[in-house]
This record gives sequence, structure tokens and C-alpha cells, in this order.
Amino acid sequence: MSVSDEGKSLEHAHVEAAYARWAPIYDAVFTAVMKPGRVAAAAAVEALTRPGETLKLLDVGVGTGLELPMFPRAARVTGVDLSEPMLAIARKRVAELGLDNVEALIAMDAMALTFEDDSFDAVVAPYVITVVPDPRRTLDEIARVTRPGGEIILVNHVRQESGPIGWIERWMGAHSHRLGWRPDFPWSIIGDWAAAHPEVTLVGRRSLNPLGLFTIARFKKSRR
Ligand SMILES: C[S@@+](CC[C@H](N)C(=O)[O-])C[C@H]1O[C@@H](n2cnc3c(N)ncnc32)[C@H](O)[C@@H]1O
Repeated sequence: MSVSDEGKSLEHAHVEAAYARWAPIYDAVFTAVMKPGRVAAAAAVEALTRPGETLKLLDVGVGTGLELPMFPRAARVTGVDLSEPMLAIARKRVAELGLDNVEALIAMDAMALTFEDDSFDAVVAPYVITVVPDPRRTLDEIARVTRPGGEIILVNHVRQESGPIGWIERWMGAHSHRLGWRPDFPWSIIGDWAAAHPEVTLVGRRSLNPLGLFTIARFKKSRR
């Protein structure tokens, strides 16, 4: 499947091949640099929990599950990912750490979620929207499975529009099919999607370290 977008498109086959390559070394390379985003996403989930209540959480693009131990135990987590090699590591992590609040880790395409509408109290997608072939369709699916009144929490690398980092990002964008993500991903893809979806409202957006490279954005789905 290939869906053209602003800039380079990614294809499922490229993404799967890239993450099969990344899986054995993913944790060594990406644990620290992307930790602030995972911590921020987990804190946003924590803020949604109420004493004595559980929260049904979907983690889209759970990968090797680096964020799973960060979620509050009140979150009953379902994780999905396209890549079996990444999921195998996540399953091992869950078993080793005894994360019994992780209910399921399922191979599934984020652009075609098999869950019913309004299934989850919250959906997190850490470092995923820049990876999928069709970000808008993925956002549609995430919004569909979020219940009215629920929250969508996105963490992404968003390109810088000027300066040396922006130049490097644009150069790296030419190689995104091998990297498995789009370094030149513009915020406008998410912003324009949200503008076209009155049922979702941006409730917070801020840059994260290192160097403001990453952004956390929280959306609320309105009650009907
Ligand atoms: C950069 S990793 C992020 C993993 C994890 N959330 C983290 O913070 O480390 C992106 C993940 O998205 C997954 N992915 C890519 N395309 C996908 C799709 N269409 N559906 C589901 N997962 C996908 C990849 O397999 C990979 O595990």
C-alpha cells in the first residue's frame, strides 16, 4: 500500500522491513532519546485516571513496549503494532516486568483498527503518526475508537521549519523509506486533520527535549 502525502510517502512493506531491521537494536538506540515523549504521554494518561477507576487505553504502534512500564497500573492497556519482531520484544518485556495491566498485544494495522467505535477511554500513539503510510487515515481510526469525552495523545517528531535542524530533517526525508519514519513531517498534517474534524479539540501542545525535536499534542473527542 502506498499513499502519497506532502513530502515522501512510506509504504507498509518499507515500514515492516525497516522495523524488522530495527527490532534487535531498537531499545539500544531509541530508549533514551525518545524517553521524554514517552514520559509525557504516560503523565497525560495518569492525569486522566480517577481513584478506584480503571481506564481503557489503546497504545497504537506500541513497538517494543518501552512506554508500557510507564503507564499507571489503573490503565488496562491494549497495544497494537504492524511489526511482529517489535511485538515479540514487547511481549517479553511485559512478561519479565509482570505488567499484568497489559491485556493484549496484537498485530494490527493502525490504519484499519478492528475495534468497535468508541472502545477506549484514551488512545496514545507515541512516535507513530510520522511512520504510517497514511497519517490522516490513522488519525481517523484513532478518533473513531476513542469514546466521546475520551482523549487522544500523540507524540511525534515534527519538523522545524527553519534553521540547521530543519535542513538536516529535509535531507533525511529523502531517505525515509530506509529509516522507517519521516524526519520531515510537518505539524500541518495533524493540524489540518484536526481542523477538518470538529469532534476533536486540541487541548494541549508542547515541545519536548531533546532540542524541541518532539511534540506532544492532546486532543479531546467531544461528547455527543
Ligand atoms: C518509532 S516506533 C515507536 C514505538 C514505541 N511507541 C516507542 O515509543 O518506542 C514506530 C512503531 O510504529 C509501528 N508501525 C508502523 N506502521 C504501522 C501501522 N500501519 N500500524 C501499526 N503500527 C505501525 C512500527 O512497527 C513501530 O513499532
